[in-house]
Amino acid sequence: MTHCRDNESIWIEGKRPLNGRIQIQGSKNAALPILAACMLIPGKCVLKGCPDITDIKCMCSLLQSTGAEVEICGMKTGNQITVDTRNVRKHRLPEKYVSAMRSSVVLMGAMLGRLGEVCVNYPGGCVIGERPIDLHLCGLEKLGAQIWTEGNHIHAYADELRGTVIELPFPSVGATQNIIMAAVTAQGTTVIKNAAREPEVTELCKFLNRAGAKIDYAGAFLPEGRIVIYGIELSRLHEVSYEIITDRIVAGTYLFAALAAGGEVTLENIPIGQLDSTCDIITRMGAAIALDEDRNEVTIYADDRSKIFNIPYVETQVYPAFPTDLQSPLIAAACMAKGQLKVREKIFSSRFRIVEELRRMGADVTVEGDLAVVTGGRELEGRTVIARELRGGAALVIAGLCASGITTVTDSGYIERGYQDIVGDLTKLGARIKNRN
Ligand code: UD1
Repeated sequence: MTHCRDNESIWIEGKRPLNGRIQIQGSKNAALPILAACMLIPGKCVLKGCPDITDIKCMCSLLQSTGAEVEICGMKTGNQITVDTRNVRKHRLPEKYVSAMRSSVVLMGAMLGRLGEVCVNYPGGCVIGERPIDLHLCGLEKLGAQIWTEGNHIHAYADELRGTVIELPFPSVGATQNIIMAAVTAQGTTVIKNAAREPEVTELCKFLNRAGAKIDYAGAFLPEGRIVIYGIELSRLHEVSYEIITDRIVAGTYLFAALAAGGEVTLENIPIGQLDSTCDIITRMGAAIALDEDRNEVTIYADDRSKIFNIPYVETQVYPAFPTDLQSPLIAAACMAKGQLKVREKIFSSRFRIVEELRRMGADVTVEGDLAVVTGGRELEGRTVIARELRGGAALVIAGLCASGITTVTDSGYIERGYQDIVGDLTKLGARIKNRN
């Protein structure tokens, strides 16, 4: 991971409840593909509310490497990023940034649409199991791209992309986004069957439609999981200004932090409607949740620890079910609740890397295949633990908030890939937590 500064760590003095209000940042997983989609629009796009995180900076560097002009303006409510792609010429993406972040792969569809050509190395990203890109490549090929590999590099070329019917064997978020981007300016109509239905896919469609694309993603007459893209001329796409939605995974992480540490926390600026599966688990575990749909706020009441119990079973699944990105925060919270929880990970093959660290803190968690069994209610003790990936790193911070003594989460650069200011946010809620170099 080139841009993770490994010598950084987060220091936590645990055993303090969380109380207060914080604002939720813009969504990483919505902003990244929308930034990539700017590549399709030969003009200046303005994205408001982008999170200030390393993955976004990495995507901006990738756009710049193609000749795009990118301006980042820091604002209280999030960064405003202006992307001007009028001078985009280069189709080779620099290895340094592609290896740092898996979502760089979504640039392939956009660059094929814009330049008819792209060359990337195999992408990197968090180590959470095998992450092939066969569905992305297969989709682009079906649209007419020629794809070949040379060593670690993938080349894709298309004189002309042609609409077609693509049925995904699994509703991959990234593959759906890549195919959408390549199909926007293809000749004719593309139908994606078994497309991903995550809000980040919907947001990409909304953004592209605002810019002049013709994508039917939620029509009342469309069968579930189907997206239809009516290809248009590239010249018909136009400049647009767009507000990025807020981050359902960051919001969910803080809800689990409050459930684990106890207290009463209000999250402002939440993506209302996208937290249902998470709120359902939290209420079943005994905390109260109040959603204020007019103000886009959620409050969790978890001050009475005697009421918090594990539920028997949770599995991760595609949206709208419980997201894999919140599986580690859930496990950290389950360590603090009485009783046993079994968690089945159904999306990624090796996403239990925090379990070893949690056990070193005294947690009773076992893993067999895709099933983790958490027996909660044991005291956690502060230790030095390693953040090996983004969401697992955040989950270790949650464990540190609940442990006695001092917890140091090392390699916290991974956490900065997705959380704008986890230390600042938790400090506002009363935690004793600091960044250490
Ligand atoms: C996106 C999210 C990530 C989230 C995941 C699942 C971004 C930047 N990342 O990742 O945070 O955890 O969705 O909600 O938005 N697969 C294949 N072949 C492919 C593509 C995927 O086998 O070509 C498999 C993966 O290995 C995995 C599963 O499909 O087992 C889900 O992956 P996918 O939905 O593509 O996730 P990402 O788009 O990578």
